[in-house]
Amino acid sequence: MFNALPSAQLLSLADSFGLPLFVYDAATIDRQIDTLKSSFDVPSLEIRYACKALSTIGVLKQIYKHGCGIDTVSPGEMIMALEAGVPASHISFTPSGVLTEEYAFAIEKGVHVHVDQLHVLEWMERHFPGTAITLRFNPGIQAGGHSKLQVGSDGSKFGFLTNQVEEIFKRTSAMSLRVTGVHMHLGSDIGDSGSFDQAYEFLLNVARHWRDSIERIDLGGGFKIPYHPNDHAINIEAFGKKVSKRFNQFCDEIGRNLTMVLEPGKFLVSAAGNLLMEVTGVREEGPLPMAFVSSGFNHFLRPMSYGAYQHIINLSNPDGEVRNYDIVGYLCETDSFATNRPMHAIRKGDILCLMNAGAYGFTMASNYNGRFRPAEVLVGTDGTPALIRRAETIHDLLRTYTGYTPV
Ligand SMILES: Cc1ncc(COP(=O)(O)O)c(C=O)c1O
Repeated sequence: MFNALPSAQLLSLADSFGLPLFVYDAATIDRQIDTLKSSFDVPSLEIRYACKALSTIGVLKQIYKHGCGIDTVSPGEMIMALEAGVPASHISFTPSGVLTEEYAFAIEKGVHVHVDQLHVLEWMERHFPGTAITLRFNPGIQAGGHSKLQVGSDGSKFGFLTNQVEEIFKRTSAMSLRVTGVHMHLGSDIGDSGSFDQAYEFLLNVARHWRDSIERIDLGGGFKIPYHPNDHAINIEAFGKKVSKRFNQFCDEIGRNLTMVLEPGKFLVSAAGNLLMEVTGVREEGPLPMAFVSSGFNHFLRPMSYGAYQHIINLSNPDGEVRNYDIVGYLCETDSFATNRPMHAIRKGDILCLMNAGAYGFTMASNYNGRFRPAEVLVGTDGTPALIRRAETIHDLLRTYTGYTPV
């Protein structure tokens, strides 16, 4: 379930590259891609990795080796995907509420765009007539593991609403824009197909409106992975089988083979990542021992932003007595990684490994409190580590200040 990198290797990487450190395992990424691909049986499947999860160029290269495309939400992500060698034909742009200049940037680069607002459609018809587009719809269905991660429900800001479908059909019928895809993304941590099935039927109904031009049906991402040792993953084989069967029926119905698009983020990279952190001290005097680490929510935000559980192990003392700890970061705020967590005894200088750190880890990192973002290492399938991003230095922090001259 978690990263298969051995503790001894992680400790040796900590020694060689310094701490804190993100370590990713290419073999885990490869395995997740293979699992996803083999779970769906449709005439054509495209995986468009949602790189908001982790957009480091070395990781994008690893993913593109499998022929996967990249789903992006900003010009920055598009440029990173292009820099990774991913051709524009394999990149899509699925933003939310951005300036039309960003759409222009995407179209001029040859990136396929997803549209979910009327004014954007009208603007595009004026400036880029004839462009092939995907329309994003909001099925009005609640799904996903956390309220902040449920983006396909009523009132969410994403996608055309259920009551706009007819109107959008009417408008696009009078435009030169070509609707070649329909799209939905329900949210993250979708662990069963119940709510998904309902949304899927909605999307297929929507797709019928554009049956003459449609080429792709994009089901989004959000496939659940386990964060806790007792947690479950989505049964992707059963899910893929069921979803494929319905898709193939739909292709039969409209008399053409379509492409199914999936946009997984965390499913591909979460388990591949570890954040290694050094224990700066342990306070024994409170109600619970408190372990301080030389990192914080500036490096890994999920526990603080979503109350997320992240499994943490003590690499340095795997056989130590188990006690409950609060584990906190070094930021001058409540900065909690774990509360009342059973851990093998933690000592000053130990190295803790926060698991499942691949997704929404580095990409959400910041310089809060004037802290540097850590280095990232990708361990290749042959076990060789490669530094894919160096740690920041004071120059990175200062370089955007006007008048700063590096010394
Ligand atoms: C449009 C879209 N697709 C895919 C994803 C990936 O979600 P996950 O990382 O849960 O698979 C997201 C995440 O926010 C998204 O907004």
